[in-house]
Amino acid sequence: MPAVEIRPDIHWVGVNDHTTDLFEGLWPISREGVSYNAYFINAGKKAIIDLAKSIKVDEFLDRLRELSDPQAIDYIVLNHMEPDHTGILKVLRDIAPSSTIVCSAKAKPMIEGFFGITDNVEIVEDGQTIDLGGKTLTFHMTPFVHWPETMMTYEENEKILFSCDGFGGYGALRGAIFDDEYADFGFYRQESLRYYANIVASFSAHVLRAIDRLADIPVEVIAPSHGLIWRENPSLIVDLYRKWAEYADNGGEQAVTLIYGSMYGNTETLMDAVFQGLSHSGVNVEAFDIARTHASYILPALWSNRGVLLGVPTYENRLFPPAAHLLDLAERKNMNNKLCGYFGSYGWAGGAVRELEKRIGPLRWELVESFAFRGGATREKCTQGKDFGLRFGRMILEST
Ligand code: FEO
Repeated sequence: MPAVEIRPDIHWVGVNDHTTDLFEGLWPISREGVSYNAYFINAGKKAIIDLAKSIKVDEFLDRLRELSDPQAIDYIVLNHMEPDHTGILKVLRDIAPSSTIVCSAKAKPMIEGFFGITDNVEIVEDGQTIDLGGKTLTFHMTPFVHWPETMMTYEENEKILFSCDGFGGYGALRGAIFDDEYADFGFYRQESLRYYANIVASFSAHVLRAIDRLADIPVEVIAPSHGLIWRENPSLIVDLYRKWAEYADNGGEQAVTLIYGSMYGNTETLMDAVFQGLSHSGVNVEAFDIARTHASYILPALWSNRGVLLGVPTYENRLFPPAAHLLDLAERKNMNNKLCGYFGSYGWAGGAVRELEKRIGPLRWELVESFAFRGGATREKCTQGKDFGLRFGRMILEST
């Protein structure tokens, strides 16, 4: 995709990444891809805002060369130091040795740590401006959206907020960069939520703080460093991010994440009965086979839904291992304040509930009901399971 004009003398010069299979080495993106959006401002001084992952250096420089000789860059603005946005810094700096790197105070030692660069690095403070001649950049510190050094850059004349990870999402750009160029951007909405749950969720209080601090700035375009650029309705992605961040305190929507796993079909059979009860209650359910679904795809539901039903067997006196892993991720991501139910089979002794209770303590989840059963899912147990699902679904719908 060639460089794209966003506003006069401001261009998208980003790249798509369909090569990386795991974002951060953890989260699958081989089907969805991701974009590293960067921006070139061709004013009296030439500035580039954010860069890209190192594997994309040739493509990045080719895109930039459509508009400018990279040697002529005056400012390299680094909103965030994670290497998906800085990986090509060393190469670009070697090409443009007189360029000034602009960053927050906390980014400076990271630049030295990652790249050994110490010269011509200008630290900017919150609210500080740089006049490029015809365009003016103002820097807003937004720590922990996503790392502590993170800031956002606002261009005053065109009212564009370059928000880096904030308001971003997975999903390579599919031939167009703007929200209004997609008849249905449901894919980007879902991938923004998955990105939020995988990457940003731990820092939700900081997201809300950043949104509040930026509220008085007149923004016409939100230009993040991943995913769509929002020019038709920039408030849409801000409102979504606000709603998702608020789930950290309110536990999410009146809906249920049903997570199940089964070794020999007994817990699976009971899961069908529980699902029947949930359906009769009228509650919305998102269901996942935990052994066959990467946690990356379960976390968005876990984050968004107040109810969690965990249907997994006891395994060696403890939780089914994939469930333990998911709960560990939930704790790391601060997925707090859920209402939880458990069901599952065991052979010689239980133990899953004991470990579940231990793991959900720090999460502040309330275990409202558990149903551990020995061996097979008899007709009688399935009747109990259906009633369990019905009760749980109704409770979630009545919860506030
Ligand atoms: Fe897209 Fe935190 O880097």
